[in-house]
Amino acid sequence: MGFSKDLILSNTSLSNHSRQLLAQAFDINPNDRAALSACCAAILDLQNSWNPNEKDPIGHLAKCFADELDTPFYARHKSPEGEHFEAEYGQSHQTSYALATSSGEAAISLIIQGLSKTGDTLLVSEKLFGTSKNNFKLSQSIDGRKVIFVDLHDFSAWQKNIGRYKPAFIFVESPSNPLAELADIRHLKILLNSSNNFEKTKLIVDSTYAPAPLYQPLALGADIILESATKFIDGQTRVTGGIIATKDEALFEELFRIRNAKGYNQVGFNALSLSYNLRSLNDRVIKQSHNALTIAKYLHQHPKIEQVFYLGLPNHAQHMLAKKDFVHDAQQQIIGYGSMLAFTVKGDEAFTRRVGNSMNIDVRVNLGSIKTILTHPFSSTHSPARLTIAEVKAAGVVPNLLRLSIGLEPPENILEKIEFGLKQAQ
Ligand SMILES: Cc1ncc(COP(=O)(O)O)c(C=O)c1O
Repeated sequence: MGFSKDLILSNTSLSNHSRQLLAQAFDINPNDRAALSACCAAILDLQNSWNPNEKDPIGHLAKCFADELDTPFYARHKSPEGEHFEAEYGQSHQTSYALATSSGEAAISLIIQGLSKTGDTLLVSEKLFGTSKNNFKLSQSIDGRKVIFVDLHDFSAWQKNIGRYKPAFIFVESPSNPLAELADIRHLKILLNSSNNFEKTKLIVDSTYAPAPLYQPLALGADIILESATKFIDGQTRVTGGIIATKDEALFEELFRIRNAKGYNQVGFNALSLSYNLRSLNDRVIKQSHNALTIAKYLHQHPKIEQVFYLGLPNHAQHMLAKKDFVHDAQQQIIGYGSMLAFTVKGDEAFTRRVGNSMNIDVRVNLGSIKTILTHPFSSTHSPARLTIAEVKAAGVVPNLLRLSIGLEPPENILEKIEFGLKQAQ
């Protein structure tokens, strides 16, 4: 990477662990403090693309500001690492228009601010992750949007509200968090196309729950997709990020402009990390999906379990839709139904919490990691502490629900832990 002692800007204080990591990454002596500092400074410089060899730096920046040059010059605007991540993500959805953001919620905020203005109506599925719901509610109370939450599967309600309000966009989570309910994107698109506002109203899909190798909402008719990259794309519960993709150049340009003005861009180092992890996404989610199907089938026949919510099981209300809309391989087989499942146990909230705590599975609010994660949505992601009881109910969340994000461990090991938890809790 061409580091030199000239790039030493300061004596960076580093932990031993960071020293080891940097030393490995850049093949330098971990005790060479000056070399380590040079690396840190160079990484920071990369983020803001400072080029010490530029002969006319003022002229160079002037051209960047006048949009005559397309090179990254400031990390909030864009970074080389971010562009790399965006290009790779875009490829997986057959587009060159992708935008990285600092988190999934930043991606949603960017869409709200980029595609609507004060006074506009937004139609939003009521099957929504708790923080996303609050994000939309804030856009109502602070930014003056009118937000109407609609039952994901009630097409006459969508149709009526589209006709009545001519919304700036309609927004669905598909599959939804936590019950993996799937939106019928083709049907929603038909409703939009037959409305009198079809050119203006955009269809936005948050597909965090089922990433690209499994599900491609842009190909089904969505105008914009977004994912919380914090989840499957990172796959390690380390980096926070969001990513948006569209096939519409004008939408992309507008979102790019707003991302810069509002400061929603991802930092270069996180983007770099996400683009590395993106390379293993296909293999990871396919294997995780197979594991999840095995576990869902087991739970489905378990006497202590009331109901299992997994798109790959025929009892899931959108199983047939998933069969149609999820990606197929060359032999026309579904690649996978995803690795997110939820289930209700036979018992009250206290019993459910005891079951969850006894499983010896990592309890987190994250998902999509290579390591299996357990969540109790009613006390965290969809808690009445953050949402009204009616909103919790609308998301389909009940006190005896547990959510599992299945990882890469052998399914028998995960089943052993689940079985242990169900036996221990009395
Ligand atoms: C479906 C969905 N969308 C958006 C988000 C928000 O993503 P982030 O935590 O990266 O802001 C989450 C987070 O769990 C989510 O599950």
